[in-house]
Amino acid sequence: MDRVIFLLLCLSAGTILSTVRGEDPYLFFTWNVTYGTIAPLGVPQQGILINGQFPGPNINSTGNNNILVNVFNNLDEPLLFTWFGMQHRKNSWQDGTLGTGCPIPPGQNYTYHFQPKDQIGSYFYYPSTAIHRAAGGFGGLRVNSRLLIPVPYADPEDDYTVLIGDWYTKSHTTLKKFLDSGRSIGRPAGVLINGKNAKGDGTDEPLFTMKPGKTYKYRICNVGLKDSLNFRIQGHPMKLVEMEGSHTVQNTYDSLDVHVGHCFSVLVTADKDPKDYYMVASTRFTKTILTGKGIIRYTNSKGPASSEIPEAPVGWAWSLNQFRSFRWNLTASAARPNPQGSYKYGQINITRTIKLVNSANRADGKLRYALNGVSHIDGETPLKLAEYFGLADKVFKYDIISDNPPTSLDKITVAPNVVNVTFRNFIEIIFENPEKSIQSYNLDGYSFFAVAIEPGTWTPEKRKNYNLLDAVSRHTVQVYPKSWAAIMLTFDNAGMWNLRSEITENRYLGQQLYFSVLSAERSLRDEYNIPENQLLCGIVKGLPKPQPYAGA
Ligand SMILES: *[C@@H]1O[C@H](CO)[C@@H](O)[C@H](O)[C@H]1NC(C)=O
Ligand SMILES: *[C@@H]1O[C@H](CO)[C@@H](O)[C@H](O)[C@H]1NC(C)=O
Ligand SMILES: *[C@@H]1O[C@H](CO)[C@@H](O)[C@H](O)[C@H]1NC(C)=O
Ligand SMILES: *[C@@H]1O[C@H](CO)[C@@H](O)[C@H](O)[C@H]1NC(C)=O
Ligand SMILES: *[C@@H]1O[C@H](CO)[C@@H](O)[C@H](O)[C@H]1NC(C)=O
Ligand SMILES: *[C@@H]1O[C@H](CO)[C@@H](O)[C@H](O)[C@H]1NC(C)=O
Repeated sequence: MDRVIFLLLCLSAGTILSTVRGEDPYLFFTWNVTYGTIAPLGVPQQGILINGQFPGPNINSTGNNNILVNVFNNLDEPLLFTWFGMQHRKNSWQDGTLGTGCPIPPGQNYTYHFQPKDQIGSYFYYPSTAIHRAAGGFGGLRVNSRLLIPVPYADPEDDYTVLIGDWYTKSHTTLKKFLDSGRSIGRPAGVLINGKNAKGDGTDEPLFTMKPGKTYKYRICNVGLKDSLNFRIQGHPMKLVEMEGSHTVQNTYDSLDVHVGHCFSVLVTADKDPKDYYMVASTRFTKTILTGKGIIRYTNSKGPASSEIPEAPVGWAWSLNQFRSFRWNLTASAARPNPQGSYKYGQINITRTIKLVNSANRADGKLRYALNGVSHIDGETPLKLAEYFGLADKVFKYDIISDNPPTSLDKITVAPNVVNVTFRNFIEIIFENPEKSIQSYNLDGYSFFAVAIEPGTWTPEKRKNYNLLDAVSRHTVQVYPKSWAAIMLTFDNAGMWNLRSEITENRYLGQQLYFSVLSAERSLRDEYNIPENQLLCGIVKGLPKPQPYAGA
Protein backbone atom coordinates (compact mmCIF):
# COMPACT_ATOMS: atom_id res chain seq x y z
CA MET A 1 0.00 0.00 0.00
CA ASP A 2 1.20 3.48 -0.73
CA ARG A 3 2.76 4.88 2.40
CA VAL A 4 0.92 8.18 2.25
CA ILE A 5 -2.47 6.51 1.88
CA PHE A 6 -1.61 4.10 4.67
CA LEU A 7 -0.79 6.97 7.00
CA LEU A 8 -3.95 8.80 6.00
CA LEU A 9 -5.94 5.74 7.06
CA CYS A 10 -4.13 5.75 10.40
CA LEU A 11 -5.13 9.37 10.70
CA SER A 12 -8.81 8.57 10.27
CA ALA A 13 -8.64 5.87 12.94
CA GLY A 14 -6.81 8.26 15.25
CA THR A 15 -9.25 11.08 14.83
CA ILE A 16 -12.21 8.97 15.87
CA LEU A 17 -10.51 8.10 19.13
CA SER A 18 -9.44 11.67 19.69
CA THR A 19 -12.99 13.02 19.67
CA VAL A 20 -13.31 11.44 23.12
CA ARG A 21 -11.90 14.48 24.78
CA GLY A 22 -12.72 13.53 28.34
CA GLU A 23 -10.00 10.92 28.71
CA ASP A 24 -7.17 13.43 29.10
CA PRO A 25 -6.45 15.36 32.30
CA TYR A 26 -7.84 18.85 32.78
CA LEU A 27 -5.85 21.91 33.80
CA PHE A 28 -7.86 24.94 34.97
CA PHE A 29 -6.62 28.51 35.04
CA THR A 30 -8.45 31.67 36.07
CA TRP A 31 -6.92 34.85 34.76
CA ASN A 32 -7.74 38.34 35.93
CA VAL A 33 -6.43 40.69 33.25
CA THR A 34 -5.89 44.25 34.45
CA TYR A 35 -3.83 47.34 33.82
CA GLY A 36 -1.03 48.06 36.27
CA THR A 37 2.02 50.26 36.45
CA ILE A 38 5.27 48.61 35.44
CA ALA A 39 8.71 50.14 34.86
CA PRO A 40 10.85 47.51 33.14
CA LEU A 41 13.22 50.15 31.72
CA GLY A 42 12.98 52.44 34.74
CA VAL A 43 10.20 54.54 33.18
CA PRO A 44 6.78 53.94 34.79
CA GLN A 45 4.22 52.96 32.15
CA GLN A 46 0.88 51.21 31.86
CA GLY A 47 1.28 47.45 31.57
CA ILE A 48 -1.17 44.59 31.00
CA LEU A 49 -1.00 42.17 33.92
CA ILE A 50 -2.39 38.67 34.35
CA ASN A 51 -3.21 37.98 38.01
CA GLY A 52 -0.95 40.91 38.84
CA GLN A 53 2.00 39.47 36.92
CA PHE A 54 4.16 40.83 34.12
CA PRO A 55 5.06 38.74 32.14
CA GLY A 56 2.01 36.56 32.63
CA PRO A 57 2.08 33.17 34.40
CA ASN A 58 3.59 30.15 32.70
CA ILE A 59 1.24 27.46 31.49
CA ASN A 60 2.88 24.11 32.15
CA SER A 61 1.08 21.28 30.39
CA THR A 62 1.58 17.82 28.96
CA GLY A 63 0.60 16.68 25.47
CA ASN A 64 -3.18 16.13 25.04
CA ASN A 65 -4.07 17.85 28.35
CA ASN A 66 -7.35 19.76 28.33
CA ILE A 67 -6.35 23.34 29.09
CA LEU A 68 -9.13 25.63 30.30
CA VAL A 69 -8.36 29.30 30.78
CA ASN A 70 -11.17 31.48 32.14
CA VAL A 71 -10.15 35.01 31.16
CA PHE A 72 -11.72 37.96 32.99
CA ASN A 73 -11.19 41.10 30.93
CA ASN A 74 -10.78 43.98 33.35
CA LEU A 75 -9.25 46.27 30.74
CA ASP A 76 -11.31 49.05 29.16
CA GLU A 77 -10.87 47.48 25.70
CA PRO A 78 -11.91 44.21 24.02
CA LEU A 79 -9.37 41.43 24.49
CA LEU A 80 -8.38 38.11 22.93
CA PHE A 81 -5.56 35.69 23.65
CA THR A 82 -3.86 33.58 21.05
CA TRP A 83 -2.03 30.37 22.03
CA PHE A 84 0.86 30.79 19.72
CA GLY A 85 1.90 27.54 18.03
CA MET A 86 -0.99 25.48 19.40
CA GLN A 87 -2.46 23.58 16.46
CA HIS A 88 -6.01 23.38 17.88
CA ARG A 89 -6.78 20.33 15.77
CA LYS A 90 -10.33 20.65 14.36
CA ASN A 91 -10.79 23.60 16.66
CA SER A 92 -9.98 27.00 15.14
CA TRP A 93 -12.70 28.29 17.51
CA GLN A 94 -10.03 28.49 20.21
CA ASP A 95 -7.36 30.19 18.13
CA GLY A 96 -8.00 33.62 19.60
CA THR A 97 -7.69 35.83 16.53
CA LEU A 98 -10.20 38.44 15.38
CA GLY A 99 -11.00 36.28 12.34
CA THR A 100 -12.03 33.28 14.44
CA GLY A 101 -13.77 34.66 17.50
CA CYS A 102 -15.31 37.73 19.09
CA PRO A 103 -13.09 39.63 21.48
CA ILE A 104 -14.04 39.48 25.17
CA PRO A 105 -15.79 42.76 25.98
CA PRO A 106 -14.49 44.80 28.93
CA GLY A 107 -15.94 43.53 32.20
CA GLN A 108 -16.77 40.08 30.79
CA ASN A 109 -15.12 36.67 30.86
CA TYR A 110 -14.67 33.85 28.42
CA THR A 111 -13.23 30.36 28.89
CA TYR A 112 -10.87 28.94 26.31
CA HIS A 113 -10.66 25.16 26.08
CA PHE A 114 -7.90 23.68 23.97
CA GLN A 115 -5.74 20.55 23.77
CA PRO A 116 -2.14 20.42 22.51
CA LYS A 117 -2.92 17.21 20.58
CA ASP A 118 0.20 15.17 19.87
CA GLN A 119 2.28 18.26 20.49
CA ILE A 120 5.37 18.86 22.58
CA GLY A 121 7.55 21.91 22.90
CA SER A 122 8.08 25.51 23.87
CA TYR A 123 5.50 28.12 23.02
CA PHE A 124 4.01 31.32 24.37
CA TYR A 125 0.65 33.08 24.44
CA TYR A 126 -0.13 36.73 23.89
CA PRO A 127 -3.05 39.13 23.50
CA SER A 128 -3.80 39.32 19.75
CA THR A 129 -6.05 42.39 19.90
CA ALA A 130 -4.94 45.96 19.11
CA ILE A 131 -1.24 45.97 19.97
CA HIS A 132 -1.77 44.81 23.53
CA ARG A 133 1.39 42.73 23.31
CA ALA A 134 3.35 46.02 23.54
CA ALA A 135 2.07 46.32 27.13
CA GLY A 136 2.53 42.69 28.25
CA GLY A 137 -0.11 39.99 28.60
CA PHE A 138 2.30 37.40 27.21
CA GLY A 139 3.72 34.37 28.98
CA GLY A 140 5.33 30.99 28.43
CA LEU A 141 3.37 27.93 27.35
CA ARG A 142 5.11 24.60 27.52
CA VAL A 143 3.92 21.20 26.45
CA ASN A 144 5.82 18.33 28.05
CA SER A 145 6.10 14.96 26.39
CA ARG A 146 3.62 12.36 27.60
CA LEU A 147 5.22 9.79 29.89
CA LEU A 148 5.20 6.92 27.41
CA ILE A 149 6.91 8.90 24.67
CA PRO A 150 10.70 9.00 24.94
CA VAL A 151 12.54 12.32 24.76
CA PRO A 152 15.93 12.30 22.99
CA TYR A 153 17.90 13.72 25.94
CA ALA A 154 18.18 13.15 29.68
CA ASP A 155 15.78 14.95 32.03
CA PRO A 156 17.30 18.33 32.84
CA GLU A 157 17.81 19.42 36.45
CA ASP A 158 15.26 22.19 35.89
CA ASP A 159 13.35 23.84 33.08
CA TYR A 160 13.41 27.61 32.57
CA THR A 161 11.38 29.94 30.35
CA VAL A 162 13.25 32.90 28.86
CA LEU A 163 11.03 35.47 27.14
CA ILE A 164 13.15 37.96 25.24
CA GLY A 165 11.82 40.92 23.30
CA ASP A 166 12.31 44.50 22.28
CA TRP A 167 10.36 46.99 24.38
CA TYR A 168 8.78 50.40 23.94
CA THR A 169 8.35 52.81 26.84
CA LYS A 170 5.33 54.41 25.13
CA SER A 171 1.98 52.93 26.13
CA HIS A 172 0.15 50.57 23.82
CA THR A 173 -2.57 53.22 23.33
CA THR A 174 0.02 55.77 22.16
CA LEU A 175 1.61 53.23 19.81
CA LYS A 176 -1.84 52.30 18.47
CA LYS A 177 -2.62 55.98 17.84
CA PHE A 178 0.56 56.23 15.75
CA LEU A 179 -0.53 53.29 13.62
CA ASP A 180 -4.16 54.46 13.35
CA SER A 181 -3.00 57.85 12.14
CA GLY A 182 -0.85 56.25 9.46
CA ARG A 183 2.56 56.50 11.12
CA SER A 184 5.06 53.86 12.14
CA ILE A 185 5.69 52.99 15.80
CA GLY A 186 9.36 53.72 15.25
CA ARG A 187 12.17 52.07 17.15
CA PRO A 188 11.99 50.33 20.53
CA ALA A 189 13.65 51.74 23.64
CA GLY A 190 15.34 48.59 24.90
CA VAL A 191 15.35 44.81 25.20
CA LEU A 192 13.86 42.83 28.10
CA ILE A 193 14.48 39.33 29.39
CA ASN A 194 11.45 38.07 31.36
CA GLY A 195 10.26 41.65 31.77
CA LYS A 196 13.56 42.96 33.13
CA ASN A 197 16.93 44.30 32.13
CA ALA A 198 19.86 43.82 34.52
CA LYS A 199 21.43 47.10 35.63
CA GLY A 200 24.86 45.58 36.07
CA ASP A 201 25.56 47.56 39.25
CA GLY A 202 25.77 44.57 41.56
CA THR A 203 22.17 44.87 42.80
CA ASP A 204 20.54 42.59 40.22
CA GLU A 205 18.76 39.50 41.44
CA PRO A 206 19.48 36.42 39.32
CA LEU A 207 16.79 35.34 36.87
CA PHE A 208 17.91 31.71 37.19
CA THR A 209 20.21 29.61 39.35
CA MET A 210 22.18 26.50 38.39
CA LYS A 211 23.80 23.83 40.53
CA PRO A 212 27.38 23.12 39.51
CA GLY A 213 27.71 20.18 37.13
CA LYS A 214 23.99 20.01 36.32
CA THR A 215 22.30 20.50 32.95
CA TYR A 216 19.33 22.84 32.52
CA LYS A 217 16.78 23.39 29.82
CA TYR A 218 16.13 26.95 28.69
CA ARG A 219 13.13 27.70 26.51
CA ILE A 220 13.84 30.93 24.65
CA CYS A 221 11.09 32.79 22.79
CA ASN A 222 11.15 36.21 21.12
CA VAL A 223 7.94 37.88 22.35
CA GLY A 224 8.92 41.35 21.04
CA LEU A 225 7.27 43.54 18.44
CA LYS A 226 9.85 44.08 15.77
CA ASP A 227 13.49 43.13 16.19
CA SER A 228 15.28 39.85 15.65
CA LEU A 229 17.48 39.19 18.67
CA ASN A 230 20.74 37.35 19.11
CA PHE A 231 20.74 35.32 22.33
CA ARG A 232 23.84 34.05 24.14
CA ILE A 233 25.15 33.17 27.59
CA GLN A 234 28.64 34.16 28.74
CA GLY A 235 30.97 31.17 28.53
CA HIS A 236 28.17 28.64 28.03
CA PRO A 237 27.47 26.99 24.69
CA MET A 238 23.89 25.92 24.09
CA LYS A 239 22.83 22.54 22.75
CA LEU A 240 19.72 22.97 20.61
CA VAL A 241 17.18 20.20 21.30
CA GLU A 242 13.78 21.47 20.19
CA MET A 243 12.27 24.14 17.98
CA GLU A 244 8.56 24.99 17.91
CA GLY A 245 7.43 21.44 18.58
CA SER A 246 10.12 19.40 16.82
CA HIS A 247 13.11 17.60 18.31
CA THR A 248 16.10 18.83 16.35
CA VAL A 249 19.50 17.41 15.56
CA GLN A 250 21.43 18.46 18.66
CA ASN A 251 23.98 20.95 17.37
CA THR A 252 25.81 23.23 19.79
CA TYR A 253 25.73 27.00 19.27
CA ASP A 254 27.51 29.93 20.93
CA SER A 255 24.56 32.14 20.07
CA LEU A 256 21.18 31.88 18.39
CA ASP A 257 19.29 34.35 16.25
CA VAL A 258 15.73 34.37 17.54
CA HIS A 259 13.35 36.17 15.18
CA VAL A 260 10.07 37.66 16.34
CA GLY A 261 7.74 34.85 17.45
CA HIS A 262 10.36 32.11 17.24
CA CYS A 263 11.09 29.66 20.11
CA PHE A 264 14.05 27.37 20.81
CA SER A 265 14.82 24.92 23.62
CA VAL A 266 18.46 24.46 24.53
CA LEU A 267 20.43 22.53 27.14
CA VAL A 268 23.09 24.38 29.14
CA THR A 269 25.51 22.67 31.53
CA ALA A 270 26.86 24.52 34.57
CA ASP A 271 30.44 23.36 34.12
CA LYS A 272 32.34 26.66 34.36
CA ASP A 273 33.83 28.65 37.29
CA PRO A 274 31.25 29.02 40.05
CA LYS A 275 30.13 32.64 39.66
CA ASP A 276 27.46 34.72 37.96
CA TYR A 277 27.05 34.94 34.19
CA TYR A 278 25.06 37.21 31.94
CA MET A 279 22.56 36.01 29.42
CA VAL A 280 22.31 38.57 26.66
CA ALA A 281 19.75 39.40 23.98
CA SER A 282 20.71 42.11 21.48
CA THR A 283 18.98 43.47 18.40
CA ARG A 284 20.09 42.26 14.99
CA PHE A 285 20.07 44.14 11.67
CA THR A 286 19.53 47.51 13.41
CA LYS A 287 21.68 50.65 13.14
CA THR A 288 21.69 51.11 16.89
CA ILE A 289 22.12 47.86 18.80
CA LEU A 290 19.93 47.55 21.89
CA THR A 291 20.95 45.01 24.51
CA GLY A 292 19.08 43.32 27.35
CA LYS A 293 20.82 41.32 30.06
CA GLY A 294 19.89 38.96 32.86
CA ILE A 295 21.91 37.09 35.46
CA ILE A 296 22.35 33.35 35.88
CA ARG A 297 23.90 32.42 39.23
CA TYR A 298 25.68 29.21 40.18
CA THR A 299 24.39 28.10 43.60
CA ASN A 300 28.00 28.21 44.84
CA SER A 301 28.73 31.50 43.07
CA LYS A 302 31.87 33.23 44.27
CA GLY A 303 31.63 36.43 42.29
CA PRO A 304 29.77 38.75 39.95
CA ALA A 305 29.37 38.32 36.21
CA SER A 306 32.14 39.71 34.03
CA SER A 307 31.16 42.98 32.39
CA GLU A 308 32.66 41.68 29.17
CA ILE A 309 29.67 40.77 27.02
CA PRO A 310 30.24 38.26 24.20
CA GLU A 311 29.91 39.87 20.80
CA ALA A 312 26.96 39.16 18.53
CA PRO A 313 27.50 38.11 14.92
CA VAL A 314 27.15 40.79 12.25
CA GLY A 315 25.09 40.69 9.07
CA TRP A 316 22.34 38.36 7.96
CA ALA A 317 24.45 35.83 5.99
CA TRP A 318 25.50 34.39 9.36
CA SER A 319 21.86 34.10 10.33
CA LEU A 320 20.96 32.35 7.08
CA ASN A 321 23.76 29.83 7.61
CA GLN A 322 22.46 29.16 11.08
CA PHE A 323 18.97 28.53 9.67
CA ARG A 324 20.48 26.00 7.26
CA SER A 325 22.14 24.14 10.11
CA PHE A 326 18.77 23.41 11.76
CA ARG A 327 17.68 19.83 11.07
CA TRP A 328 14.85 17.70 12.27
CA ASN A 329 15.88 14.58 14.22
CA LEU A 330 14.15 11.96 12.10
CA THR A 331 14.95 9.10 14.46
CA ALA A 332 13.61 10.70 17.65
CA SER A 333 10.42 8.84 18.44
CA ALA A 334 8.16 11.50 19.78
CA ALA A 335 4.82 13.08 19.25
CA ARG A 336 5.10 14.33 15.72
CA PRO A 337 3.71 17.82 15.39
CA ASN A 338 2.11 16.87 12.11
CA PRO A 339 2.16 13.13 11.94
CA GLN A 340 -0.44 12.63 9.25
CA GLY A 341 1.87 11.07 6.73
CA SER A 342 3.36 14.38 5.77
CA TYR A 343 6.72 13.76 7.39
CA LYS A 344 7.78 11.99 4.23
CA TYR A 345 6.95 15.35 2.78
CA GLY A 346 9.64 15.17 0.09
CA GLN A 347 7.67 12.43 -1.68
CA ILE A 348 4.32 14.19 -1.81
CA ASN A 349 3.36 15.96 -5.03
CA ILE A 350 2.64 19.65 -4.67
CA THR A 351 -0.95 20.40 -5.67
CA ARG A 352 -0.75 24.17 -5.42
CA THR A 353 1.89 26.89 -5.11
CA ILE A 354 0.95 30.15 -3.46
CA LYS A 355 3.47 32.94 -3.79
CA LEU A 356 3.02 35.81 -1.36
CA VAL A 357 4.92 39.06 -1.76
CA ASN A 358 4.82 41.63 1.01
CA SER A 359 4.61 45.35 0.34
CA ALA A 360 4.25 48.58 2.27
CA ASN A 361 2.45 51.55 0.82
CA ARG A 362 -0.08 54.25 1.49
CA ALA A 363 -3.80 53.70 1.12
CA ASP A 364 -5.92 56.85 1.60
CA GLY A 365 -2.80 58.58 2.80
CA LYS A 366 -2.14 56.06 5.58
CA LEU A 367 0.64 53.53 5.90
CA ARG A 368 -0.60 49.97 5.21
CA TYR A 369 1.17 46.64 4.78
CA ALA A 370 -0.09 44.06 2.31
CA LEU A 371 0.28 40.55 0.92
CA ASN A 372 -0.10 40.37 -2.87
CA GLY A 373 -1.52 43.88 -2.83
CA VAL A 374 -4.26 43.28 -0.24
CA SER A 375 -4.11 44.71 3.25
CA HIS A 376 -6.36 42.70 5.57
CA ILE A 377 -8.87 44.44 7.78
CA ASP A 378 -10.91 42.87 10.58
CA GLY A 379 -14.61 43.69 10.65
CA GLU A 380 -17.21 43.44 13.43
CA THR A 381 -18.03 39.85 12.50
CA PRO A 382 -15.28 37.22 12.74
CA LEU A 383 -14.79 35.48 9.40
CA LYS A 384 -15.21 32.02 10.89
CA LEU A 385 -18.55 32.92 12.45
CA ALA A 386 -19.78 34.51 9.21
CA GLU A 387 -18.85 31.34 7.33
CA TYR A 388 -20.36 28.96 9.93
CA PHE A 389 -23.64 30.89 10.01
CA GLY A 390 -23.81 30.85 6.19
CA LEU A 391 -23.37 34.61 6.00
CA ALA A 392 -19.89 34.77 4.48
CA ASP A 393 -21.10 36.77 1.48
CA LYS A 394 -22.24 39.57 3.83
CA VAL A 395 -18.80 39.88 5.40
CA PHE A 396 -16.04 38.96 2.91
CA LYS A 397 -15.23 37.65 -0.54
CA TYR A 398 -13.07 34.55 -0.97
CA ASP A 399 -9.88 34.68 -3.00
CA ILE A 400 -9.49 38.38 -3.68
CA ILE A 401 -5.78 37.73 -4.04
CA SER A 402 -4.50 35.18 -6.53
CA ASP A 403 -1.75 32.63 -6.06
CA ASN A 404 0.71 34.98 -7.73
CA PRO A 405 1.35 38.61 -6.84
CA PRO A 406 0.05 41.30 -9.23
CA THR A 407 2.73 42.78 -11.49
CA SER A 408 2.60 46.08 -9.63
CA LEU A 409 2.41 46.24 -5.86
CA ASP A 410 2.03 50.04 -5.82
CA LYS A 411 -1.71 49.89 -5.22
CA ILE A 412 -3.02 48.51 -1.94
CA THR A 413 -6.60 47.29 -1.49
CA VAL A 414 -7.88 47.29 2.08
CA ALA A 415 -10.32 44.37 2.58
CA PRO A 416 -10.72 41.11 4.50
CA ASN A 417 -8.24 38.68 2.91
CA VAL A 418 -9.51 35.10 2.86
CA VAL A 419 -7.96 32.36 0.72
CA ASN A 420 -9.96 29.19 0.05
CA VAL A 421 -7.87 26.06 0.41
CA THR A 422 -8.98 22.54 -0.44
CA PHE A 423 -9.02 20.26 2.62
CA ARG A 424 -5.94 17.97 2.72
CA ASN A 425 -4.19 19.55 -0.24
CA PHE A 426 -0.39 19.56 -0.04
CA ILE A 427 0.61 23.14 -0.71
CA GLU A 428 3.82 25.04 -1.20
CA ILE A 429 3.91 28.64 -0.03
CA ILE A 430 6.65 31.00 -1.15
CA PHE A 431 7.23 34.19 0.80
CA GLU A 432 9.14 36.77 -1.17
CA ASN A 433 10.41 39.83 0.67
CA PRO A 434 11.43 42.69 -1.63
CA GLU A 435 11.82 45.09 1.32
CA LYS A 436 14.93 46.14 3.22
CA SER A 437 13.68 44.83 6.57
CA ILE A 438 13.39 41.26 7.80
CA GLN A 439 10.05 39.45 7.88
CA SER A 440 8.82 36.80 10.27
CA TYR A 441 5.69 34.85 9.31
CA ASN A 442 3.52 32.52 11.34
CA LEU A 443 0.74 30.16 10.32
CA ASP A 444 -1.83 29.20 12.96
CA GLY A 445 -3.26 25.68 13.15
CA TYR A 446 -0.35 23.92 11.50
CA SER A 447 3.28 22.98 11.49
CA PHE A 448 4.96 23.34 8.14
CA PHE A 449 8.29 22.26 6.71
CA ALA A 450 10.58 25.26 6.29
CA VAL A 451 12.42 23.85 3.28
CA ALA A 452 14.47 26.80 2.05
CA ILE A 453 15.48 30.41 2.52
CA GLU A 454 17.59 32.06 -0.17
CA PRO A 455 18.56 35.52 -1.30
CA GLY A 456 17.00 36.92 -4.51
CA THR A 457 13.71 35.97 -6.09
CA TRP A 458 12.10 32.57 -6.31
CA THR A 459 11.75 30.52 -9.49
CA PRO A 460 10.46 26.92 -9.83
CA GLU A 461 14.07 25.77 -10.49
CA LYS A 462 14.92 26.72 -6.90
CA ARG A 463 13.02 23.63 -5.78
CA LYS A 464 16.19 21.68 -6.56
CA ASN A 465 17.77 23.29 -3.49
CA TYR A 466 14.96 22.51 -1.06
CA ASN A 467 15.67 20.39 1.98
CA LEU A 468 13.23 17.59 1.21
CA LEU A 469 14.55 15.25 3.88
CA ASP A 470 14.90 16.78 7.33
CA ALA A 471 13.69 20.38 7.33
CA VAL A 472 12.33 21.28 10.75
CA SER A 473 8.57 21.12 11.13
CA ARG A 474 7.60 24.41 12.81
CA HIS A 475 5.11 27.27 12.70
CA THR A 476 7.26 30.34 12.01
CA VAL A 477 9.76 31.29 9.33
CA GLN A 478 11.86 34.38 8.77
CA VAL A 479 12.49 35.98 5.38
CA TYR A 480 15.63 38.07 5.10
CA PRO A 481 15.64 41.34 3.16
CA LYS A 482 15.44 40.85 -0.63
CA SER A 483 15.13 37.10 -0.12
CA TRP A 484 12.51 34.37 -0.21
CA ALA A 485 11.50 31.43 1.94
CA ALA A 486 9.58 28.28 0.99
CA ILE A 487 7.36 26.18 3.22
CA MET A 488 5.29 23.06 2.54
CA LEU A 489 2.36 21.58 4.39
CA THR A 490 -0.77 19.48 4.15
CA PHE A 491 -3.87 21.52 4.92
CA ASP A 492 -5.46 18.74 6.95
CA ASN A 493 -6.80 20.84 9.83
CA ALA A 494 -10.27 22.15 9.00
CA GLY A 495 -11.00 25.66 10.21
CA MET A 496 -10.18 29.30 9.58
CA TRP A 497 -6.46 29.91 10.05
CA ASN A 498 -4.50 33.11 10.28
CA LEU A 499 -1.26 33.57 8.35
CA ARG A 500 0.45 36.73 9.51
CA SER A 501 3.56 38.77 9.77
CA GLU A 502 4.63 38.52 13.41
CA ILE A 503 6.16 42.00 13.08
CA THR A 504 3.42 43.69 15.10
CA GLU A 505 3.19 46.90 13.09
CA ASN A 506 2.90 44.96 9.82
CA ARG A 507 0.26 42.62 11.20
CA TYR A 508 -1.80 45.42 12.73
CA LEU A 509 -1.70 47.37 9.47
CA GLY A 510 -2.90 44.45 7.34
CA GLN A 511 -0.05 42.05 6.54
CA GLN A 512 -2.06 38.93 7.22
CA LEU A 513 -4.67 36.70 5.67
CA TYR A 514 -6.88 33.77 6.60
CA PHE A 515 -7.02 30.34 5.03
CA SER A 516 -10.51 28.90 4.97
CA VAL A 517 -10.14 25.11 5.11
CA LEU A 518 -13.50 23.33 4.99
CA SER A 519 -14.07 19.62 4.83
CA ALA A 520 -16.77 18.75 2.35
CA GLU A 521 -18.50 16.41 4.80
CA ARG A 522 -19.00 19.07 7.49
CA SER A 523 -18.48 16.25 9.92
CA LEU A 524 -17.41 16.19 13.56
CA ARG A 525 -14.66 13.88 12.43
CA ASP A 526 -13.03 16.87 10.73
CA GLU A 527 -14.09 19.85 12.81
CA TYR A 528 -15.68 20.52 16.19
CA ASN A 529 -18.97 22.33 16.51
CA ILE A 530 -19.09 25.90 17.65
CA PRO A 531 -18.46 25.84 21.43
CA GLU A 532 -21.41 26.21 23.81
CA ASN A 533 -19.94 29.34 25.33
CA GLN A 534 -18.94 30.99 22.01
CA LEU A 535 -19.33 34.78 22.16
CA LEU A 536 -21.36 36.15 19.26
CA CYS A 537 -20.88 39.60 17.79
CA GLY A 538 -21.38 41.62 14.60
CA ILE A 539 -24.13 40.34 12.31
CA VAL A 540 -24.38 36.96 14.07
CA LYS A 541 -25.10 38.46 17.47
CA GLY A 542 -28.36 37.07 18.84
CA LEU A 543 -28.80 34.57 15.98
CA PRO A 544 -29.64 30.96 16.88
CA LYS A 545 -26.66 28.66 16.38
CA PRO A 546 -26.82 26.62 13.14
CA GLN A 547 -27.39 22.88 13.16
CA PRO A 548 -24.35 21.13 14.60
CA TYR A 549 -22.06 19.16 12.31
CA ALA A 550 -22.97 15.50 11.80
CA GLY A 551 -21.56 12.96 14.29
CA ALA A 552 -18.31 11.18 13.57
C1 LIG B 1 -9.30 41.54 39.30
O1 LIG B 1 -8.38 42.47 39.83
C2 LIG B 1 -8.96 43.71 40.13
C3 LIG B 1 -7.84 44.65 40.51
O2 LIG B 1 -6.99 44.05 41.44
C4 LIG B 1 -9.98 43.52 41.23
O3 LIG B 1 -10.60 44.75 41.52
C5 LIG B 1 -11.03 42.52 40.76
O4 LIG B 1 -11.92 42.22 41.79
C6 LIG B 1 -10.38 41.24 40.30
N1 LIG B 1 -11.40 40.40 39.67
C7 LIG B 1 -11.44 39.08 39.82
C8 LIG B 1 -12.51 38.36 39.07
O5 LIG B 1 -10.68 38.49 40.55
C1 LIG C 1 5.34 20.81 34.73
O1 LIG C 1 4.66 19.67 34.34
C2 LIG C 1 5.46 18.51 34.40
C3 LIG C 1 4.67 17.35 33.80
O2 LIG C 1 3.32 17.64 33.59
C4 LIG C 1 5.84 18.23 35.83
O3 LIG C 1 6.65 17.09 35.90
C5 LIG C 1 6.59 19.41 36.36
O4 LIG C 1 6.85 19.24 37.71
C6 LIG C 1 5.80 20.67 36.17
N1 LIG C 1 6.64 21.77 36.52
C7 LIG C 1 6.18 22.78 37.22
C8 LIG C 1 7.18 23.86 37.49
O5 LIG C 1 5.04 22.84 37.61
C1 LIG D 1 -17.32 33.19 33.36
O1 LIG D 1 -16.92 32.78 34.66
C2 LIG D 1 -17.93 32.03 35.34
C3 LIG D 1 -17.53 31.87 36.80
O2 LIG D 1 -16.20 31.53 36.96
C4 LIG D 1 -18.09 30.71 34.63
O3 LIG D 1 -19.07 29.91 35.26
C5 LIG D 1 -18.55 31.01 33.19
O4 LIG D 1 -18.62 29.81 32.46
C6 LIG D 1 -17.56 31.95 32.51
N1 LIG D 1 -18.12 32.37 31.22
C7 LIG D 1 -17.63 31.99 30.05
C8 LIG D 1 -18.32 32.53 28.85
O5 LIG D 1 -16.68 31.25 29.92
C1 LIG E 1 17.99 11.85 17.63
O1 LIG E 1 17.18 11.15 18.51
C2 LIG E 1 17.71 9.87 18.84
C3 LIG E 1 16.65 9.05 19.54
O2 LIG E 1 16.25 9.59 20.76
C4 LIG E 1 18.97 10.08 19.65
O3 LIG E 1 19.51 8.85 20.05
C5 LIG E 1 19.97 10.81 18.77
O4 LIG E 1 21.12 11.13 19.51
C6 LIG E 1 19.39 12.08 18.19
N1 LIG E 1 20.26 12.51 17.12
C7 LIG E 1 20.86 13.71 17.07
C8 LIG E 1 21.78 13.91 15.91
O5 LIG E 1 20.67 14.59 17.86
C1 LIG F 1 3.64 12.43 -8.30
O1 LIG F 1 3.68 12.85 -9.64
C2 LIG F 1 4.46 11.99 -10.46
C3 LIG F 1 4.59 12.65 -11.84
O2 LIG F 1 3.40 13.24 -12.25
C4 LIG F 1 3.77 10.64 -10.53
O3 LIG F 1 4.51 9.76 -11.35
C5 LIG F 1 3.70 10.08 -9.12
O4 LIG F 1 2.98 8.87 -9.12
C6 LIG F 1 3.02 11.05 -8.17
N1 LIG F 1 3.17 10.56 -6.81
C7 LIG F 1 2.18 10.49 -5.94
C8 LIG F 1 2.52 9.98 -4.58
O5 LIG F 1 1.03 10.81 -6.22
C1 LIG G 1 -13.32 26.33 -2.08
O1 LIG G 1 -12.66 25.25 -2.73
C2 LIG G 1 -13.43 24.05 -2.77
C3 LIG G 1 -12.57 22.95 -3.33
O2 LIG G 1 -11.92 23.35 -4.50
C4 LIG G 1 -14.68 24.28 -3.58
O3 LIG G 1 -15.45 23.13 -3.60
C5 LIG G 1 -15.46 25.42 -2.94
O4 LIG G 1 -16.58 25.73 -3.73
C6 LIG G 1 -14.61 26.66 -2.78
N1 LIG G 1 -15.36 27.62 -1.99
C7 LIG G 1 -15.42 28.90 -2.32
C8 LIG G 1 -16.26 29.72 -1.42
O5 LIG G 1 -14.82 29.38 -3.25
